[in-house]
Amino acid sequence: MRKFFVALTVCVGIAVPAVSAYSVGIVDESLVGDRIVCFVPEGFDATVTPELILQRKFEPTGARPDSWSLNPVYEVTDRGVRTVVDIPAGTSLYGGGEVTGPLLRNGQTIRIWNTDTGMYLVDGGRRLYQSHPWVMGVRPDGSAFGVLFDTFHKAEMLTADDRIEFVAEGTPCKTYVIDRESPQAVLKGLGELTGTMEMPPLWALGYHQCRFSYVPQSRAEEVAETFRARKIPCDVIWFDINYMDGFRIFTVSDTEMPDVRGMNRKLHEQGFRTVYMIDPGVKVDDNYFVYSSGKKAGIFVSDPYGNEFHGKVWPGDCAFPDFTRPETRSWWGGLYKDFMNFGIDGIWNDMNEPSVFDGPGGTMPENCIHLGGGNLPAGRHSMWHNAYGRLMVEASRDGIMAVNPDKRPFLLSRSNILGGQRYAAMWTGDNAASADHMKLSVPMSLTLGLSGQPFNGPDIGGFVGNTDGDLFGNWLGFGAFFPFSRGHASCDTNDKEPWAFGKDVERESRMALERRYRLIPYIYTAFRRAHTDGQPVMAPVFMADPADVSLRAEEQAFLLGTDLLVIPAFAENPALPSGIWENLSLVKGDTMGKYQAGLKIRGGSIVPAGRVIENMTENPFEPLTLIVCPDNDGNAAGMMYWDEGDGWSFRDGNYCELAFRARRDGKYMVVTVERTGGDFPLDLGRINVEVLQNGKVRRGSGSMDAPLRIRM
Ligand code: NOJ
Repeated sequence: MRKFFVALTVCVGIAVPAVSAYSVGIVDESLVGDRIVCFVPEGFDATVTPELILQRKFEPTGARPDSWSLNPVYEVTDRGVRTVVDIPAGTSLYGGGEVTGPLLRNGQTIRIWNTDTGMYLVDGGRRLYQSHPWVMGVRPDGSAFGVLFDTFHKAEMLTADDRIEFVAEGTPCKTYVIDRESPQAVLKGLGELTGTMEMPPLWALGYHQCRFSYVPQSRAEEVAETFRARKIPCDVIWFDINYMDGFRIFTVSDTEMPDVRGMNRKLHEQGFRTVYMIDPGVKVDDNYFVYSSGKKAGIFVSDPYGNEFHGKVWPGDCAFPDFTRPETRSWWGGLYKDFMNFGIDGIWNDMNEPSVFDGPGGTMPENCIHLGGGNLPAGRHSMWHNAYGRLMVEASRDGIMAVNPDKRPFLLSRSNILGGQRYAAMWTGDNAASADHMKLSVPMSLTLGLSGQPFNGPDIGGFVGNTDGDLFGNWLGFGAFFPFSRGHASCDTNDKEPWAFGKDVERESRMALERRYRLIPYIYTAFRRAHTDGQPVMAPVFMADPADVSLRAEEQAFLLGTDLLVIPAFAENPALPSGIWENLSLVKGDTMGKYQAGLKIRGGSIVPAGRVIENMTENPFEPLTLIVCPDNDGNAAGMMYWDEGDGWSFRDGNYCELAFRARRDGKYMVVTVERTGGDFPLDLGRINVEVLQNGKVRRGSGSMDAPLRIRM
């Protein structure tokens, strides 16, 4: 059988002469975690499919339970190795990572082949920049399961009503099945397998302003100054490719950026951070240190004849680092040393599918050679394609960490695979400035959150094409609540900063961002949950009540964390969870704002909010406000996580975890604040309380030392 796998050439999506199908047995089916079974098929070969997706190797801990109902069946077909998992009737399917189309994935087919797809037009939007061979099913009773196909080979995934079908190149891959009581528990299991995102630096939770490109440097300075002058909250200014010298990565143009260090310093003084783009393509130029050192070390991808492969990207002919090689990854990481020392805070890895303008299918030829090394085998590009971006961001992250070991890296990547949340945040690539793409940005981000990647968001306002004030206002009105909230614009479009559309849109934009910034304590706590438990920061409405099947397809409204509902202004008749959900106002006039999303707080919860700040160098806790929404019995609870906002001391206990409780006591609502973890000295002076009940707000204040009593 093994010999057969080696000899077989399987090509997903490419017509090859038919061979008969062979069924493939299972050689092991063991528990590897709490209600997680790993199925190992006959012919599985770790040297062909190393486990890049998982965070570590999982050893069997027991036998598959006899009652286990989700069992993959494998066969080899002329299209590849086909794995089918039959699923119970009435299951709602989710996941698949970066996808276009609906949140509810029943009846969808996606191709797993990372692709540079402007406006999601390639292949009808069925393949995008990232690969997530993962599906989550939610049964009618709200219990859930997840199926992870542990491969990065080219594949196609069908999510039908009665089955999940996965056809992939390469040898048969392991399938991991998680079967637990709820979607939350399944996502926790996904995090156990693939790892979770690291705690981000606090500044990365602020608003980000980007454009292709803010040059010359004076334009970037002007944008930054305008944010401060107009008191519009913002933490990060982004630098797209035009800051480089002739698109040579790791260089800075003398003419566009005459004093990059000075500018970064000044931006820091104004409370901004900077993120700079680094692409994988290295300009072929013997007088350029990145190319010449790479060439000397022989670390570029080669064609089948052993010649360095060249393909066109922004700088013209480029060579491409072979990130499968440990030598390449350490050479690449080393390039960040001088670069970060320009005073750069974060890195944006783009074009890493890899995108090759003159290559077949917009990438490098499939017969290019990657040499591998360590536990990664040598192989053709056809095998390594989907892992290219993932290996690149691992190398980038390691390089950034080596320069600034005491800081949390912030890295954004366009390409990646399932599990890649361990290395980088992501955005959903080149969308269009259209109402359709604005609406689509909600299910896209939700699906990523259900696929292990909580730190994501779209280009707010739309990347390709001009944006009008109405579109921008509407998009930012709810886009302020994406986990990653960044406005971006392509090179040939109109200005898309919040003030570029006139006074009304500017006012609404400020308001939307002020709402985000007030919620930073709550959002940071949601990120903490993403880090510890693999939970999405932005979640579908059905997760508020997984057994309510009427919520399963809702993709306009969404949850932020577990206790807030965000209802975009464009939403028409959204399906909302039953029970108490009180309207929430965070800044004066926001509930009347034309473009502001509706916000609702869940009965039984307490949401910690800060004051309006303009960036994360300010103290949000002047004061802390607890927004209490009691349940039918008059009780509510919540928590808050806080720490230094950067660095790693939280791992040694330098954090603060607070538990909030509220209960009705006669005419009063009594609220207590208790430290439940960590020893970070959080100085909370006055604490404000707002109790929302039956459409009314009652206010009070006090301090941490005594219960807060609010007259109802
Ligand atoms: C493609 C990226 O998707 C886009 O965001 C960026 O602006 C351009 N490359 C230019 O670097």
